[in-house]
Amino acid sequence: MLVLGIETSCDETALALLDSERGVLGQRLHSQVDMHVAYGGVVPELASRDHVRHVLPLLDQVLDEAGEKLTAIDAIAVTAGPGLAGALLVGVSIGHALGYALRRPVVDVHHLEGHLLSPLLARPAPEFPFIALLVSGGHTQLLHVAGYGDYRLLGETLDDAAGEAFDKTAQLLGLGYPGGPAVSRIAEFGIAGALKLPRPMISSGNLDFSFSGLKTAVLTAVRRLGGGNLCEQSRADIALEFVQAMADVLASKATRALEETGLKTLVVAGGVSANTQLRTRLCDEVAARGAKVFFPPIELCTDNAVMIALAGLASVRRHSGSLAPRSRQSLGFSVRPRWPLAQAVSSQN
Ligand code: KG4
Ligand code: ZN
Repeated sequence: MLVLGIETSCDETALALLDSERGVLGQRLHSQVDMHVAYGGVVPELASRDHVRHVLPLLDQVLDEAGEKLTAIDAIAVTAGPGLAGALLVGVSIGHALGYALRRPVVDVHHLEGHLLSPLLARPAPEFPFIALLVSGGHTQLLHVAGYGDYRLLGETLDDAAGEAFDKTAQLLGLGYPGGPAVSRIAEFGIAGALKLPRPMISSGNLDFSFSGLKTAVLTAVRRLGGGNLCEQSRADIALEFVQAMADVLASKATRALEETGLKTLVVAGGVSANTQLRTRLCDEVAARGAKVFFPPIELCTDNAVMIALAGLASVRRHSGSLAPRSRQSLGFSVRPRWPLAQAVSSQN
């Protein structure tokens, strides 16, 4: 089965063709970073317009790369939420229009389900059941994953997401947008122990997170060490301590989830899972407990369409081929900018 994945939930226009037997046949991604950088963050209206400009040319490129025709597509998987409403509408309207034109089923995919399943594209791949640590720009969650479509929330952030904390720290350090990779890069030059930041909720006794206090602590440290005149070394020291605080909290909660559930497999996904320091830390902690940790291939940590096609394929299989092709009787579609994962999965099952 050949599935076309479409992702336009935020600032990446991405398309991919995934074949159930042959794997990824083609993928294309256009990042809008250069356009948003001047504003220090994503401007929703600009994002939507840019998706409109790129989505169809990228579809042609993906088909070319795969050596396939449009009519070879068996199903279409598109991110329907959560995300920016206008940006989501571009992908969803294209996906549903294609489904109607080709008379193929269209699956509305939850963006986080895509991230959650992306470590299955690693080789070797993890086996169910596992604990998933989802660390993206908008979410930080720990989930018990028993199988495709069988997800139970164990804990989540009460305020900022991990990626959001990276981005805000980058802003405070004058590193601009997108922040995660920049903070991670300069942390390499930091001196360990030069300052101390809090590890919020590390001893809370549950699996929830909170990162807004960490951001405030970074702000206080920046002011104390020089404010606008912060020297390069202090900047690197703050970045290193921030990354270590983040890694301490995430590693502690993830290993706690393994212990509480008795599971021996952790998967880590979402943009922050590209972070080298975090990867190393989690590998060490998890191995010390006789368990295994899996990450998506590095290029599939951040937003992409392969993970959306994979989640769509899983959903089509759950329906064992009973999904109806788009037809004149069912032309409606909608996006869900706010969409709890549990709700998405129960409506698919
Ligand atoms: O999953 P993602 O691409 O988009 C969302 O669904 O939100 O995650 C984006 C987030 C951003 O906050 C970005 O700063 C962070 O992931 N990120 C990183 C790294 N690469 C991306 N954070 C830390 N280290 C990185 N190497
Ligand atoms: Zn994402």
